[in-house]
Amino acid sequence: MTERVPHTTDDAGIPAPSDQFSQSVGPNGPLLLQDHYLIQKMAHFNRERVPERVVHAKGGGAYGVLEITEDVSQYTRASLFQKGRRTDLLLRFSTVAGELGSADTARDPRGFALKFYTEQGNYDLVGNNTPIFFIRDPSKFSDFIHSQKRRADNQLRDHNMQWDFWTLQPESAHQVSFLMTDRGTPKSWRHMHGFGSHTFLWYNAAGEKFWVKYHFKTEQGVQNLTADEAKAMEAQDPDAHRRDLWNAIRKGDHPSWKVNVQIMPFEDAADYRFNPFDLTKVWPHEDYPEITIGRFTLNRNPENYFAEIEQAAFEPSNLVPGIGMSPDKMLQGRLFSYPDAHRYRIGPNYLQLPVNRPASPVHSYNRDGAMAYVNGGDPVYAPNTAGGPVADPEPFNGSGYHVAGEIVRSAYQPHKEDDDFSQPRALWEKVLSDSDRAGMVSNIVGHASAPEVTDDMKKRVVEYWTNVHPDLGGGVAKGLGVQG
Ligand code: NDP
Ligand code: HEM
Repeated sequence: MTERVPHTTDDAGIPAPSDQFSQSVGPNGPLLLQDHYLIQKMAHFNRERVPERVVHAKGGGAYGVLEITEDVSQYTRASLFQKGRRTDLLLRFSTVAGELGSADTARDPRGFALKFYTEQGNYDLVGNNTPIFFIRDPSKFSDFIHSQKRRADNQLRDHNMQWDFWTLQPESAHQVSFLMTDRGTPKSWRHMHGFGSHTFLWYNAAGEKFWVKYHFKTEQGVQNLTADEAKAMEAQDPDAHRRDLWNAIRKGDHPSWKVNVQIMPFEDAADYRFNPFDLTKVWPHEDYPEITIGRFTLNRNPENYFAEIEQAAFEPSNLVPGIGMSPDKMLQGRLFSYPDAHRYRIGPNYLQLPVNRPASPVHSYNRDGAMAYVNGGDPVYAPNTAGGPVADPEPFNGSGYHVAGEIVRSAYQPHKEDDDFSQPRALWEKVLSDSDRAGMVSNIVGHASAPEVTDDMKKRVVEYWTNVHPDLGGGVAKGLGVQG
């Protein structure tokens, strides 16, 4: 017996006349403008796409839950971080430079974007799988991304252009070091760490302030692909990571991450040996050890990729009471960039879509605009005497701090040990194993051996890596055939 299925309708719910035939004058005749059903189908199809994200276009994601197991109320009053609290979340993973259909296993950082649906509104932590970034000033972001994407003339990616940017911006050395180890090609999204990367502010109910960094440690263990394995997978299954996550969750094999934080007392920042707000630096563990405060698990796949993942809108400006911004210039730039991107990519009422809508009630005075459907009633202005919502500044007590200075365009004022190379050197000298180092040299040589990379550029590549460590520079010089 065949199962009863519903009748097709158009998008207005009107029964559809046919799934197969347009309306014509006689079986062989021309079609009719009155066939609204055909016109709706064709017109809607032409509008199926929204612009892909300008970066991090290719990705995938899933829902899960955060559980806080330790008491950190002495550091933050944020409700989601109180001991015993469980908070629903969405996590989207991505590559950075490739387009919507690009391969998951390309050498690239991976996006690690979290949205927590807290009782105080959405808290978004839009991080990567590395604790650092290529640049420390947002004015360079679009130039950096252009160098990673495609040339204007032939629309090809170009490794010469990439090394040109990196070698002219030595602050990139730490992030490019991570990228050129096998962590630049993770085995799957489940097998990599995530990081908030920036320094954020935490403040407690008494108004005491701390600086914080987030580390999400995979409980599946870090696993990577070699360059050859990653290349082979690009051909075999460009959607390997999307498939892996979907299948694991469907089978009930729910991936999880430990939530760790590093806490710096507010006053330490001024004289710390590194600028603690410089996104090209980590806080060494011997200064600020990681403490575990909980874990999160991914346990549910989306039902509709477009609605729930493509239209998901993550924004570093979504911070809830107990959490604040830091003076990291990159973070400051991102606070503007993401909501602006969402208004363009999705539309002004993107926060009304189910995936972006907070779990807590919204009592905003913003009104109307394209596609508004959760639209507040009267009163439409504040202040008012009509019983409308009234702002409560109390949860933000403690979030402010003193700043003063001349208006300038300048690099950060250096701290005692600030330079571009000592932290990547520490990675090479004390963290990487012999086989990690060999892999890093071979990955750099492979990348800088692309036919478009000029001899002059190869010399600059060797110089860049020699600044990190002479052994690394020597290995790259040998591999590229550059004479010392
Ligand atoms: P530690 O020895 O205390 O920490 C080293 C860190 O490196 C650990 O977090 C380790 O965690 C991670 N790590 C291990 N293998 C690799 C790898 N192949 N690629 C990238 N990271 C790796 O040293 P410090 O805190 O003094 O930091 C030394 C250097 O380690 C830093 O300059 C930085 O390059 C790197 N690092 C530091 C981090 C930090 O927050 N302090 C975080 C990540 C890296 P795990 O094996 O779990 O990834
Ligand atoms: C996505 C801008 C730095 C992580 C994006 C998007 C923009 C953007 C415009 C697309 C948003 C969308 O259409 O939904 C910038 C700017 C930066 C910057 C201007 C620096 C000034 C960073 C850094 C990180 C990061 C430092 C990580 C630490 C991400 C992630 C996404 C993303 C994970 C994808 C989010 C998702 O899954 O939807 N960025 N970015 N970005 N960015 Fe950045």
